[in-house]
Amino acid sequence: MEKLLIEGGHSLEGTVTISGAKNSAVALIPAAILADSKVTIDNLPDISDVETLAFLLEEIGGKTELDNDTLVIHPENMFSMPLPNGRVKQLRASYYMMGAMLGKFNKAVIGLPGGCNLGPRPIDQHIKGFEALGAKVTNEQGALYLQAEELRGARIYLDVVSVGATINIMLAAVKAKGQTIIENAAKEPEIIDVATLLTSMGANIKGAGTNVIRIEGKDELHGCRHSIIPDRIEAGTYMILAAAKGRAVKVDNVIPLHLESLSSKLREMNVGVGVSDDAIYIESKPVLSPVDVKTLVYPGFPTDLQQPMTSLLTKAEGSSIVTDTIYNARFKHIDELRRMGASIKVEGRSALVNGGSRLQGAKVRASDLRAGAALVVAGLMAEGVTEITGVNHIDRGYAYLEDKLKGLGANIWRESLNPEELRELKSS
Ligand code: EPU
Repeated sequence: MEKLLIEGGHSLEGTVTISGAKNSAVALIPAAILADSKVTIDNLPDISDVETLAFLLEEIGGKTELDNDTLVIHPENMFSMPLPNGRVKQLRASYYMMGAMLGKFNKAVIGLPGGCNLGPRPIDQHIKGFEALGAKVTNEQGALYLQAEELRGARIYLDVVSVGATINIMLAAVKAKGQTIIENAAKEPEIIDVATLLTSMGANIKGAGTNVIRIEGKDELHGCRHSIIPDRIEAGTYMILAAAKGRAVKVDNVIPLHLESLSSKLREMNVGVGVSDDAIYIESKPVLSPVDVKTLVYPGFPTDLQQPMTSLLTKAEGSSIVTDTIYNARFKHIDELRRMGASIKVEGRSALVNGGSRLQGAKVRASDLRAGAALVVAGLMAEGVTEITGVNHIDRGYAYLEDKLKGLGANIWRESLNPEELRELKSS
């Protein structure tokens, strides 16, 4: 068990290179189950979710070789091993094992997923999709049992625009008999990335990235090689860090279009934002303007950047309102920011940030991945040293965090928790 320590106040300068997208990676790895031969995935982020999923593939008889940012998956000997417990509970994205195994074997038993606690996170739309394709789905003792005689294409309208349900239904439908149409589909770039991998495997998918996706089922899918898109949320986090403490920071290896909503909010705050083909340049200003932020599905402002953005807004001169329309309880970072001296009030699904208060280093706890990112932003801005526990959450999504920040001039390091801190953590 470790904690992250940050000495605030140092200005950031230089270049940070963004890794492959976590939320693509966690879908692409299960997607490889659908192939009958070797799948190679390049540009993987070095995060714990990748290792967990590779382990799950091994549990169902796959062979995996992880070498730096490349994962080679041999799906030839995989079988429909039930995964009711264990590592499936460690991450949200283990739900993609449902769609992929159902698509490949017509059956799956998967424990209900874990992941960040952001309030209720139902998967009813995933289940509705599986059932429409012909699967019988039952919930027994915390695991979902999925079984189909044969999967048949269907027309599925999602009641809620859901990234996970859109991808999961694609995974289950690519080998189903006939045509599947997903209406009111999510449009996130990660969905296009998964569709690109599946297409390279021989699948027939049209419309990924729009709200209607059409899939013609194929009997067989083959292996392929695929390189993951850059992580827009990691990139956005560094843009926010740079806006908070940067002199001149280049955020390299990004697709600027994926970050339009953040870039325009930062410009509205008076932050300098420059763009080239695959990099974004951020220049912070001494005085930042307050802005209102409302999270929306892509291409709107991403909920995953709401928490780090809230930390940045504590620096703005005036009041800002941050509203999360995707997860209305995604505010667990606020109490910790208050401990650091921030003036923020949560009302319903909005946080009212009174900017201008000087943050002080404190002992704080990351309750989830992006709450952790928010505390890193705050720690870099604060006076003195901030100690962050719950680092395991941060390690699920940010590759080489300390190295990347040190490269920009931050003073950040890890220490083991002492026995008293361990006791405190266990009893909290
Ligand atoms: N929803 C339902 N029913 C469903 C599915 C979703 O009501 O069957 C609701 C959710 O409760 C939420 C909204 O629909 O209010 C959107 O959820 P979505 O399904 O799009 O989220 P997800 O697929 O579970 C992914 C990312 C999240 C990110 C959201 C929103 C992965 C593994 N996770 O989650 O990423 O916040 O999309 O963009 O891709 C993160 O990276 O920190 C993270 C939490």
